[in-house]
Amino acid sequence: MSAPTDPAAAMLAEVARIQADALARLAAAPDAAAVEGLRHEVLGRSGALTALLRGLAAVPAADRPTAGAAANAARIALEAAVTERLAQLTERELAGRVATEGLDMTTPGRPVRVGHLHPLMTVERDLREIFHAFGFEVFEGPEIESDLMNFELLNMPPDHPARDLWDTLYVAEPGSVEAGSPRPAEDGTILRTHTSPVQIRAMRALKPPIRVLMPGRCYRYEAVDAAHGFEFFQVEGLVVDRDTSLADLKGMVEEFARAMFGDGTRTRFRPGYYPFTEPSAAFDIGCLVCGGPGCPACGRTGWMTILGAGMVHPEVLRNGGLDPDEYQGYAFGMGIDRMTLLRHAIPDLRLLMTADLRFLQQFAGGR
Ligand code: DAH
Repeated sequence: MSAPTDPAAAMLAEVARIQADALARLAAAPDAAAVEGLRHEVLGRSGALTALLRGLAAVPAADRPTAGAAANAARIALEAAVTERLAQLTERELAGRVATEGLDMTTPGRPVRVGHLHPLMTVERDLREIFHAFGFEVFEGPEIESDLMNFELLNMPPDHPARDLWDTLYVAEPGSVEAGSPRPAEDGTILRTHTSPVQIRAMRALKPPIRVLMPGRCYRYEAVDAAHGFEFFQVEGLVVDRDTSLADLKGMVEEFARAMFGDGTRTRFRPGYYPFTEPSAAFDIGCLVCGGPGCPACGRTGWMTILGAGMVHPEVLRNGGLDPDEYQGYAFGMGIDRMTLLRHAIPDLRLLMTADLRFLQQFAGGR
């Protein structure tokens, strides 16, 4: 049989030859690399089939569509065959590994580790929930505060002895920023020693009736030990309305203690002193460790103080932009760290500020 002489017939024959040859070699290809090599050789940029398609110009115009279609069909068929052969080889390789390495495809995946809230934040969240039910909204203030907000507007002018109650970390002591400095506002900047300055901010930002909960981090210049940290968390509450009384305050904190520590919780309200409240009170619950007779945890008194409170001082109302003849309010503040220690019987406050997972993972359950 003589070779066809017309270019179209020659091209069709060449396409068929390349396809048959490629399919035979594919079937025999031992691995993915061999398949890839073949793909390159036949279908690549300078592959046999690609070169053939370029030669289409030499085919008479009338035969070009037939010849072109044949070459394209061959390309599509070969690409499909390559994909199929690759899948076959992968499957065979896996089967081989299952047999030789004991790879078990039905083994469950590794579990995803889910984190959880830090115990301090769980307590804070519980406080938010309890007070939310009492109608409080959350209002937050800055941790870097002015001496003015933290002390002066809370009825503690410079040199007021009550300032000694709060060992303060100064960013810039009042009077320390020189006149003409580009940042005069930094003068008298401190790390807030309590959340009470947020009371002023809330009164200035909101209109009575005000019912806000103000959680946040505070800082003091403390010698750190099992019971004291230089950073800690507080939650402050403030209620301002036209006829708010000490009885409202007492009722509120008692209800709170029951919601937080259980229905049978014993409570005690006793006089205290804070410059920003008048009268001021301390609020105690029956010792959670000994339940009454007295133990080391409660200083052998049977009681544990959980918050400070009082009726907002008229001067503080005025500093918040409110007329004390028209409005009264009560406020309270408590430490979240103390409460967390109590809840979980944790012996040392410092554990709460380590990132030790052996400690923290014990609280994965939330409570
Ligand atoms: N700010 C006080 C402290 O850090 C706690 C406190 C006491 C807050 C009485 C109050 C309050 O709102 O009325 O020790």
